[in-house]
Amino acid sequence: MITIEYLKNYDEMSQYVATLVGKLIDVGTPLNLGTPTGGTPIGMYKKLVNTGLNWNNVHTFNLDEYVGIDKKHPQSYHKFMWDNLHAYVGLNPYKIHFPHLEYDMEIEALGGLDLTILGIGTNGHIAFNEPGSSFSSVTRIVNLSQQTIMDNSRFFDSINQVPTQAITMGLHTIMKSRQVILMGQGEKKLDILKRALWGMVTEDIPASILQYHPNLRVFYCD
Ligand code: GLP
Repeated sequence: MITIEYLKNYDEMSQYVATLVGKLIDVGTPLNLGTPTGGTPIGMYKKLVNTGLNWNNVHTFNLDEYVGIDKKHPQSYHKFMWDNLHAYVGLNPYKIHFPHLEYDMEIEALGGLDLTILGIGTNGHIAFNEPGSSFSSVTRIVNLSQQTIMDNSRFFDSINQVPTQAITMGLHTIMKSRQVILMGQGEKKLDILKRALWGMVTEDIPASILQYHPNLRVFYCD
């Protein structure tokens, strides 16, 4: 059974994951990092950018982006990444990658993902792979579920402003990453983490595919 590693609080979880990532960056060999958005990883990014690490060996590959809003929109994931990571670490723009329809080919051509960090949606989505997503899916445009639109409306002025579509890495794309870290915070997330990791593997709970990943660590805090 997959272990869910409990950390004392959000600060500790953020620090713990940032330290793991920092160690990989510090090795200095090329590192292709799958980078998440959402509320959960913000603390980890804060810790990471305060360590004075040299990011010269790193390429970042975002998991997903909304369709239908401009890159400069305050809630775009381009903007999120700039505000939380890219503005601080001096990455050359050609090392910053966002999903497009040939993303899987681009990732492979650059050596594949070494580590992908994930959050989880309350309905078990990872990146924007909503319930019903095929386990063999690759990067594509998807419709967001009502649940996700509702959950993410807290970041927008009103629910009507939440995009209804996104472009996301597929489940197959994520599974090919050599290492995966999944983070969750709060009771709502503990419930879905347990169902995803300890229940049946089913496309109705996209994160359940991670049960088959050979190098997965899962962190949770209240
Ligand atoms: C968003 C993102 C996911 C993220 C999830 C959870 O919709 N597309 O990559 O993991 O929802 O977000 P949060 O951490 O804010 O709960």
